[in-house]
Amino acid sequence: MSITSVFNFTFVPWFRSVAPYIHKFRHQTFVVGIAGEAIAAGKLPSLAQDLAMIQSMGVKIVLVHGFRPQVNEQLRAKGHAPKYSHGIRITDEVALDCAQEAAGQLRYEIEAAFSQGLPNTPMADSTVRVISGNFITARPVGIVDGVDFQHSGVVRKVDIAGITKTLDMDAMVLLSPFGFSPTGEAFNLTMEEVATSVAIALQADKLMFLTEIPGIRTRPDEAASEDNPIDTELPLAAAEKMLAELPRPTQPSDVGFYLQHCVKACKQGVERSHIIPYSVDGAILLEVYVHDGIGTMVVDEKLESLREASPDDVGGILQLIEPFEKDGTLVKRGRSEIERDIGNYTIIEHDGVIFACAALYPYPEAKTAEMAALTVSPDVQGQGDGERILKRVEQRARASGLDSIFVLTTRTMHWFIKRGFAPVDPEWLPEARKRKYNWDRKSQVLVKKLST
Ligand SMILES: CC(C)(COP(=O)(O)OP(=O)(O)OC[C@H]1O[C@@H](n2cnc3c(N)ncnc32)[C@H](O)[C@@H]1OP(=O)(O)O)[C@@H](O)C(=O)NCCC(=O)NCCS
Repeated sequence: MSITSVFNFTFVPWFRSVAPYIHKFRHQTFVVGIAGEAIAAGKLPSLAQDLAMIQSMGVKIVLVHGFRPQVNEQLRAKGHAPKYSHGIRITDEVALDCAQEAAGQLRYEIEAAFSQGLPNTPMADSTVRVISGNFITARPVGIVDGVDFQHSGVVRKVDIAGITKTLDMDAMVLLSPFGFSPTGEAFNLTMEEVATSVAIALQADKLMFLTEIPGIRTRPDEAASEDNPIDTELPLAAAEKMLAELPRPTQPSDVGFYLQHCVKACKQGVERSHIIPYSVDGAILLEVYVHDGIGTMVVDEKLESLREASPDDVGGILQLIEPFEKDGTLVKRGRSEIERDIGNYTIIEHDGVIFACAALYPYPEAKTAEMAALTVSPDVQGQGDGERILKRVEQRARASGLDSIFVLTTRTMHWFIKRGFAPVDPEWLPEARKRKYNWDRKSQVLVKKLST
């Protein structure tokens, strides 16, 4: 086979696999917060290329830049040390001057980055109109516990109409962490607060932070390891619980620093908030257009309906899976078997009716688990419930320190392959499971590795 045909063979399915995301995100609004550290690390040109491409696929983008290191650098150049209290900068006259200078400089750099268009670069023929403005009204932080924060402020109001009109002109909105009071005074804000407030005010589809941290780990206060990977999807309730258990974050490198803003946005109607590492080239493309993403997504998935099963759910589960047992899609399980294993089940329930279920049977000696009886009621199939329950089962497996999950299926292979499973020989199965494998049924075994 020639190199060209090999390339075509991989490129075409790859490009097609991205198509559903392109369709889904067209006309959606993303608010993207870029930490000043990312710009200081020289990531602006590639970030601009990626954002220009996302915008060209019909996504409306509000970009908020941070400037913490740039302001500190200006302060140091003037012989001043940055001052903080309660994790917030104290903006005196000198710091305000430095912040204004840093913001001006960064705006020029960002506008310049979006104006690139050299032939043979990803920006060739791109036209990104970047518009900034006085879209944020601020008020002072004031005096807290006797500390006067002077020109440090918090967001009071977002000019939703102004931002929406600008986005409707197909322009990208660029915001600096500044706001103005009705008396014309300027206040220094934080990038994280501006991005979160704008995402909430616009009811954006996504809030994304490009940060120095790689995402949130399953056990956030422990070091990175094979069995403590980045949690690619964190349900809102789990994120809130995690935040409550972590020490109060004050530095951007603290685990809870960005997480607290993601949780706030999620609780106020922004369904998905992401923490993405800027150190990975193309991180934002990987997060948006690849199924599992690369950072952590906090998601409000109406948790009251997605939960672990209790003995009261046995009847509902039986009712749900029976038709699929009858037509041979699922292996038959009796009431007593489900009763015995009820703790292994995860379900989705709406108004007292069970619409989806799946069970997880661990084989700890092989650091794996079988996901069995994955079923979504025919009334609600195709709405993402299958995927939602799979994510939760993966999370349960990860929390138990397992490396992979596997399924046995006769008819649903492609659904699993699309979600990161790969076929393996039945010989791969843990010994205890192999003994029960029904060689006549010829089920396909598929495995998904959980570590990232
Ligand atoms: C497989 C199943 C759990 C998926 O649930 P779901 O909520 O419909 O899934 P999602 O909404 O997350 O995904 C829907 C997508 O999967 C596709 N899909 C559904 N069944 C499929 C199958 N057997 N093979 C391949 N793709 C399938 C749908 O066409 C849809 O594709 P689209 O998004 O391109 O339109 C559900 O169809 C089901 O309960 N099937 C019967 C039981 C079963 O087969 N269980 C697996 C036993 S191992």
